[in-house]
Amino acid sequence: MTPKINIHRLQAEIDEISLISEKPAPVVTRILFSEADLRARAFVKKLCLRSGLKLRQDAVGNIFARWEGLDRRLPAIATGSHIDAIPNAGKYDGVVGVLGGIEAVRALKESGFRPKRSIELIIFTSEEPTRFGIGCLGSRLLSGALAPDRAAKLLDARGKSLDRWRRQVGCKGVLNSVRLPKSFYSAFVELHIEQGPVLEKEKISLGVVEKIAAPATLRLVLTGAGGHAGATLMPGRRDALLAGAEIALAVEKAATGSGSSDTVGTTGVFEIKPGAVNSVPCGALLEIDVRDTEVKTRDSVLAQIEKCAREICRRRKIGLKMERLNADLPAVCSPKLVATAVETCHAQRISCKKMVSRAYHDALFMSRIWPATMIFIPCRKGYSHRPDEYSSPAQIERGVRVLAGMLAHVAG
Ligand code: GLV
Ligand code: MN
Ligand code: MN
Repeated sequence: MTPKINIHRLQAEIDEISLISEKPAPVVTRILFSEADLRARAFVKKLCLRSGLKLRQDAVGNIFARWEGLDRRLPAIATGSHIDAIPNAGKYDGVVGVLGGIEAVRALKESGFRPKRSIELIIFTSEEPTRFGIGCLGSRLLSGALAPDRAAKLLDARGKSLDRWRRQVGCKGVLNSVRLPKSFYSAFVELHIEQGPVLEKEKISLGVVEKIAAPATLRLVLTGAGGHAGATLMPGRRDALLAGAEIALAVEKAATGSGSSDTVGTTGVFEIKPGAVNSVPCGALLEIDVRDTEVKTRDSVLAQIEKCAREICRRRKIGLKMERLNADLPAVCSPKLVATAVETCHAQRISCKKMVSRAYHDALFMSRIWPATMIFIPCRKGYSHRPDEYSSPAQIERGVRVLAGMLAHVAG
């Protein structure tokens, strides 16, 4: 079957949710559990209820919207993504998979289809790492990839724990209850923008993800000695910023010198204390993101950065607290589900290409338990994590149409 997607309705909803932001348009900023995130969650819940889906929420704030199948004993087929957004983001990352999932369900309902298996849309908590330094909190807990007691103790930059945050925003129950049994789902398919330039360059309509690259994050807290910028002479200074700057350059060097063009290293957070022009920086916080499609290369780059950081701090007499927040394994998607996605594209006369995801996604963790794949929609110039991120309505429509086709096929 080829479901009829109402792209005007979907685009209007994408536009509407993009205005729920901590910063004015075209910027989208929706940090986990911020007022904007809570309002966006309410917006999505309203759409789910209007579409006749049954809602529930777990203890970490993952939202589930279920279309009950004819046989409720069968494991459900799940789809979904996230609505939180990093600072200075665009309006498609994550949102297309959530609102596109709702549109896919509506299109199937309107076509008269009744699924045998239930179809469940998941809106994952905190795919983005902004608040706690580690991403995919919802899918990590749901799949058992993160221990609930470790999750509870995660701290944000102000020292407030995930446990306090989630209770404050009304997430009920204990974190131990978030993990779902293998029998809960039969498969997971995530629709997402590509966040890279391949599909646009090669003029291919959709991507079907076979592998997801492995991310790792380091958090470094540097402690130097502050002092008056005029009166503290240069010899003997213990400037935390300068140590951090050397470390950031070491990250670039390690990533470019890894021997693989797939390695990327980014110092995405660099905050200094006290942040006054006439004061020697006494402290610095760095968060470093390292990725590769090969876990061995990624880990050796990571180890090299850690070694450099220790050497730099020793030489500059800077205190160093270094933590690996995460170092995940790459995912291999389900060959059967990948084949279903490719066949669905062919049946709908949509060109597609099997590809690797260099960004991480909730599918990375869902795939550890359930057969999973992703459908990628091209985006202009591969831009993402910036306000000018863009996919056209026609590109999105094809992605949602294939998602709906796959849900119908797997739900039976
Ligand atoms: C997800 O947003 C990522 O950083 O890959
Ligand atoms: Mn993102
Ligand atoms: Mn995303």
